[in-house]
Amino acid sequence: MSTILVLPGDGIGKEVCEQAVNVLAWFNDTYQLNLKIESDLVGGAAFDAYGVPLRDETMQAAHNAKAILLGAVGGPQYDNVERDKRPEAALLALRKELDLFANLRPAIVFDPLVDASSLKPEIIKGLDILILRELTAGVYFGLPRGISTLDDGSRTAVDSCTYSEFEISRIADVAFDLARKRQKRVHSVEKANVMETGVLWRDVVSERQQKIATDIDLQHMLADNCSMQLLKHPHQFDVILTDNLFGDMLSDTAAMLTGSLGMLPSASLSGKNAEGKQAAMYEPVHGSAPDIAGQNKANPLATILSLSMMMRYSLDRIDLADNLDKAVNDILNDGLRTFDTATEKDSPSSCSEVGQAVIDKLKNNKE
Ligand code: IPM
Ligand code: MG
Repeated sequence: MSTILVLPGDGIGKEVCEQAVNVLAWFNDTYQLNLKIESDLVGGAAFDAYGVPLRDETMQAAHNAKAILLGAVGGPQYDNVERDKRPEAALLALRKELDLFANLRPAIVFDPLVDASSLKPEIIKGLDILILRELTAGVYFGLPRGISTLDDGSRTAVDSCTYSEFEISRIADVAFDLARKRQKRVHSVEKANVMETGVLWRDVVSERQQKIATDIDLQHMLADNCSMQLLKHPHQFDVILTDNLFGDMLSDTAAMLTGSLGMLPSASLSGKNAEGKQAAMYEPVHGSAPDIAGQNKANPLATILSLSMMMRYSLDRIDLADNLDKAVNDILNDGLRTFDTATEKDSPSSCSEVGQAVIDKLKNNKE
């Protein structure tokens, strides 16, 4: 029996996870996956209940789980809470402690959603990009950091962006591996024109490519140019390999190519240990969206598609992942839309209606 730890978190995280858990439970029963689904509080919800955003017990459960499904964390009511108690601290601690350095964020344009994007259909139709974001280093974790007061009483702030050769080299290797199963093209994205970490990033990625991936077409691109190219000519990209901060920004941009941030799933993976065990956390790329939380309006598909990634990468059930991806595509083809992807002619469905429609479609497609 393997455990899946569900951490719904805050805001719409709860609603979208509820739908994804229904889908997971259906798979578990129908295909005897032998999964135990446990759930716990994280982020603001844990802070409200226990005074900390992530309890030690929860971290232990995360270590023991086969995989984690996380909703979203954060909310304006925590804006003034000290940094290490803020909801986001829980997310960063999970990423760091479990060494989830490889963050896969696929941006796929589903045909029926071509019109939901703010970009012209001919620019985005058929798009399938994978952003690979380094998730455990860079400016998110670099030291020193902080705000201090100078002798004259004015304040100064510092964040540090640090990358070691090891940290760059291991994420580069993942990029080449992933590209090999796709179009064999990697764009490595940094700011080598102004940042030292960018210079090292470029060097190490090139060295790894020479050493282990001469079959992969590697191109280097500056991050500002990449953000523009994503909007101008996104089809040039296959795998985008980038650091923690640029990956955060470029994945939101890529999400909008697909029509809505509500469609983008993600997987965060560690390396494999000696017994082949790999820690993994699956989450939608969107946040907790406090403005629409609790209204049963949110799009659950990013979370449901994150489940599909779980089946692919943690449960070794590519067949079931394909079934789930197809069910999502089918309900979109049937015209089901939450408010974020609806056009004027659609009447939006609720979060729970979309979740149920996915299960109905899975049942139907199985018969
Ligand atoms: C993301 C989010 C997080 C990040 C926040 C919630 C800390 O924006 O996963 O993209 O910045 O990494
Ligand atoms: Mg982000």
